[in-house]
Amino acid sequence: MGRRASLTIAVCLATMALLDGLTQAQSRQALSPGRAMYLGVDYYPEHWPRERWETDAKLMKEAGFNIVRLAEFAWIEMESREGQYEFGWLDDALKVLAQYNIDVILGTPTAVMPAWVAQKYPQALRTKADGTQVVWGGRKHNCYSNADYRRLSERITRAMAEHFAKTPNVIGWQIDNEFGGEECHCPSCLAEFQAWLRDKYGTLDTLNKAWGNRFWGLKFTDWPQITIPDDSTDRSWVMGNPSACLDWKRFITWQQARFQADQVKIIRAVCPEDFVTHNLMGLFTGLDYYAMAKDLDFVAWDNYPIWSDKPDIPYSASLAADLMRGLKQKNFMIMEQTAGPCGWEAFGRNPWPGEIRKIAYQQLAHGSDGQIWFRWRTCTVGREQYWHGLLGHDGKPLRRYQEAAQTAKEFRRLEEHLRGTTVVSEVAILYDYDNLWSLSFQPGFAGNSLQGAVRRYYDALFRAGVNADIVNRKADPSKYKLVLAPDLSILPDETAAKLDAYVKNGGVLLADCRTGVKDERNLCHDRTLPGLLSSVLGIRIEEYSSLGQDSWYKVNGGDRLAGTYTAIQYTDWVTPESAASLAGYADQWHLKPFAATTRNIYGRGKGWYVGAVIKEAAFYDDLIAQLLKDAGIRPIVTPPPGVEVSIREKPDKRLLFLINHNEEPRSVRVPKDRVELLTGQKTKESFELDRFGVAVIEL
Ligand code: GAL
Repeated sequence: MGRRASLTIAVCLATMALLDGLTQAQSRQALSPGRAMYLGVDYYPEHWPRERWETDAKLMKEAGFNIVRLAEFAWIEMESREGQYEFGWLDDALKVLAQYNIDVILGTPTAVMPAWVAQKYPQALRTKADGTQVVWGGRKHNCYSNADYRRLSERITRAMAEHFAKTPNVIGWQIDNEFGGEECHCPSCLAEFQAWLRDKYGTLDTLNKAWGNRFWGLKFTDWPQITIPDDSTDRSWVMGNPSACLDWKRFITWQQARFQADQVKIIRAVCPEDFVTHNLMGLFTGLDYYAMAKDLDFVAWDNYPIWSDKPDIPYSASLAADLMRGLKQKNFMIMEQTAGPCGWEAFGRNPWPGEIRKIAYQQLAHGSDGQIWFRWRTCTVGREQYWHGLLGHDGKPLRRYQEAAQTAKEFRRLEEHLRGTTVVSEVAILYDYDNLWSLSFQPGFAGNSLQGAVRRYYDALFRAGVNADIVNRKADPSKYKLVLAPDLSILPDETAAKLDAYVKNGGVLLADCRTGVKDERNLCHDRTLPGLLSSVLGIRIEEYSSLGQDSWYKVNGGDRLAGTYTAIQYTDWVTPESAASLAGYADQWHLKPFAATTRNIYGRGKGWYVGAVIKEAAFYDDLIAQLLKDAGIRPIVTPPPGVEVSIREKPDKRLLFLINHNEEPRSVRVPKDRVELLTGQKTKESFELDRFGVAVIEL
């Protein structure tokens, strides 16, 4: 396409976007008006001879790809000496791609500092907790407070932005690569932490109170006395106090969000038409992703779900997708998607035939509007020689390439149906990083983790064929019929008040073990559990206990939960007040007065409580069935085991996705006389899914 033609198209698209009330950057996002879905690969032209570039671009085009991500590790190739920029090679690569109508997301290259940076500015290297600095030679070496590193990062970002602002096929930016919550212990980071605390607390007295520093005589009498708390749980005798640890985690997020924002600002100013995103890591716990997502136009994430010996049900990739969608309550992109065996030292399983396609459909079904496979071709050099791409070392377009190409072609056919659709859930699960971190320092009982607790309910919803949003405590619960709040240990008063009002007004809430133990400072409330949720839940918990690894108690359910289950790890000794007991501990004389599960009618809604960790998944399936009933949620399809259901919709369209994660075909009962979009056929009462098969049915 000539420059003139692309200019005309760009003007048309910008006009359409303005009519749609979108910003210029939003108009460049996948599936915005006039924009295609983005499908492509992570590409490293700098790793391959120039003579190969055209072959690569041609093969990409033939696969139906229209996007690549480039340059996120190529700082040294663009600035081999301080202040001397060389973008010619990248211009050439971009031109080759443009000839094949392939658009580009450029990565700012700040995840790996060039060797000259480390040499000239040694303080830019991160300091570990033991006081030694990281040795340059891998990646992510940098300290985030170092003024030189921040300046050099902003400068290369600006130089790139200015250079590529007018390149027609550059449409968006990825800031850095996978912010990883790295902690730097250098004097400059310590000083920043102290300043951050000063800003937050104002006075030392407030800080001492917020951290409970009277304990062990840890009171500060001067700001410079504040140290970086040790948050490594394997050394509990030196571990910092839990409130200090929580603030340190929050500070790390603040620091990396600031580093990201420094670059976002430059790109927005210089390239206002381009979108800005970052590749997050799904269920990664080192950063508060709600905060990290704030500055981005949309979230992108890296999905590597194949780690087991055999294909399994990828619950966690589905949960991660829902979390990523929840960060901005908006569709997302996959910036890196498994393309082959993964691993740096030893590599894992090769995706079996059909698996690459089904992984892509899972993300599509949960709200991805674009997918980029990592990587195009397996690298012959460096640390990632065994992290395989769509092409092998030999560069031939074989099975994995063919499968991605088939997937891309199918997605193109679905494009118009998908435009403007997203997942609309009636169920929300609360997922809060404060709570997650607090539980990671002090799980309370062995084996407890927020993600583990969430999975018990999330997996049961998945099995029931019901979509969920994963939202943090700041979200408005009122748009959901059912809110699940597992492991809600940190319960600030305003969250409790919000949940109270939610139930009073007709919502259904589920809470479980350890609810309401702490406030947002990570100090224990001085209230009888579950604190301010006692009325909503209609219970009182005066005592609780961990169970040893070899202990378990039998739990007998009553009419709503008619089963026998096993309590493990922990029990709250729940005294029902206004709540009804739905399950108890019949065989344990000391627990006979207490309930294992309760249900309370409160206002126009219901408050459920589960006071134990239950071993059997069947318990959570039974419980979810009851909760859905109480909330008046009826799944459209009740899938057989291993078949995933998800719905994307907009006001005049609903698309039902079915994904068979089993190695054998499965038959699923579906609404009759609807069109299955991949085959164009009308549905009968049941739909036959092949092994790893998918269906997209217009409801
Ligand atoms: C991701 C990262 C990529 C590459 C890939 C495979 O986490 O963003 O740069 O390293 O893993 O190891």
